[in-house]
Amino acid sequence: MPNNVVVLGTQWGDEGKGKIADLLTSKAGIVVRSQGGNNAGHTLVVGDRKVVVRLVPSGILHPNCLCLIGSGVVVSPEALFGEIEELRAAGFSDVENRIKLSAACALLLPIHPAIDRGAEKLRGNNAIGTTGRGIGPCYEDKVARRGLRVGDLRDLSIFEDKLKALLDYRNFLLKNYYHEKEVTFEEVMNSVMTVRERMLNMVTDVSAQIANAHKEGVKVLFEGAQGTFLDIDYGTYPYVTSSNTVAGGCCTGSGAGPLAIDYVLGIAKVYTTRVGGGPFPTELTDEIGKGICTRGKEFGAVTGRPRRAGWYDAVAMRRAVTINSLSALALMKLDVLDGMDEVKICTAYKMKDGTISQLPPLAAYEYDVEPIYETMPGWSESTFGVTSFDKLPVNAQNYLKRLEELSGVKVALISTGPEREQTIFLEDPFA
Ligand code: GDP
Ligand code: IMO
Ligand code: MG
Repeated sequence: MPNNVVVLGTQWGDEGKGKIADLLTSKAGIVVRSQGGNNAGHTLVVGDRKVVVRLVPSGILHPNCLCLIGSGVVVSPEALFGEIEELRAAGFSDVENRIKLSAACALLLPIHPAIDRGAEKLRGNNAIGTTGRGIGPCYEDKVARRGLRVGDLRDLSIFEDKLKALLDYRNFLLKNYYHEKEVTFEEVMNSVMTVRERMLNMVTDVSAQIANAHKEGVKVLFEGAQGTFLDIDYGTYPYVTSSNTVAGGCCTGSGAGPLAIDYVLGIAKVYTTRVGGGPFPTELTDEIGKGICTRGKEFGAVTGRPRRAGWYDAVAMRRAVTINSLSALALMKLDVLDGMDEVKICTAYKMKDGTISQLPPLAAYEYDVEPIYETMPGWSESTFGVTSFDKLPVNAQNYLKRLEELSGVKVALISTGPEREQTIFLEDPFA
């Protein structure tokens, strides 16, 4: 019986990870975030309440769930405590006691969004379209070994020395290279000191907590952020985020060993979306694409930016299945395709030197691909809220079966609406 289940995005993010992580948390005692930061926006809908979590794991609405933030996550103290206040205001009063984080988490400080904005401006027409949260610059500082970590807050003199050195370097760049206003030492200290004690009280050994849960038979859910093709190594570089969003990242980012993972559930929409710049082979820039965006309410949960939409890409998905060792897929937002005359699936890419059926590791400038589509009849009936496969229109059933076949992995869940109950369970990942 799977004890440790990974839930991750298999496309370009916003697949519906939050809904599924929240839903499966009813079976898990712990939910762990292992990468990314407050660039994520995971929507949880319970009845007529909607909550968007960014840094806090999506298990937080379940009163007995412990939420862990692993060392691979970049943590903005302002964003974390802002989010805790939002949750408290929404009636979830006990959340702070249930969130624990690793002392090794990189601290995302006000200097990082400033650099992010400066870098995007300088890129001009080649801007990545980042969320502007400072995620990339924070990971840069971590990898360059000049970053500050949560544990550094324990000794203020060490913290201040490290911060001065960081700001010396970053402000030099801000002023002389990006021509932006510098960020002062006082500004950063103020952002941190107001929450320092509270943050230190949240520190735990995330790796040990996960190992102990295993011994005690407590189930753990690893919640991915972003999506497979935003991965720093396997995504459409440089139009990617700065962390490993693929399944391997949940081990390095939490301190769970690779053999601790029992089941990897890939989340995918029955179509595709992307927010920000970069290649998107199946993108629809016509009325069909607009219709999908309108019906799917495709606006970023963090930035409110409109998302780009297109057909389901089985070429990319076959690569996602391999990279992530997917056990199964959760196919989301079926209801959004209701009422379409026909639906299409990309089955291959035509490239300069032939046709390929699995996405190769291409850089963005190499994306000279023409998608080859298979067309299927659509369905006019509503699938919204349907909870059993047999009750779906036959054409919707056939479409889902074909997605499964072409993706090369079984389908465990089908989502027919934003709420927990609006789900078809074909296999329980924890059973
Ligand atoms: P995440 O970042 O992967 O957690 O996804 P987001 O929360 O950014 O975006 C997914 C959006 O789709 C949210 O607004 C969800 O409430 C919504 N959603 C999830 N599943 C379904 C579904 O099956 N149907 C519809 N119509 N909306 C859904
Ligand atoms: P969730 O977890 C969709 C995208 C940004 C941009 C690129 C780099 O909600 O699925 P960054 O700020 O990370 O440096 O931006 O990655 N991006 C996301 N797109 N969903 C997300 O998170 C994203 N997080 C980052 O739009 O293209
Ligand atoms: Mg999102």
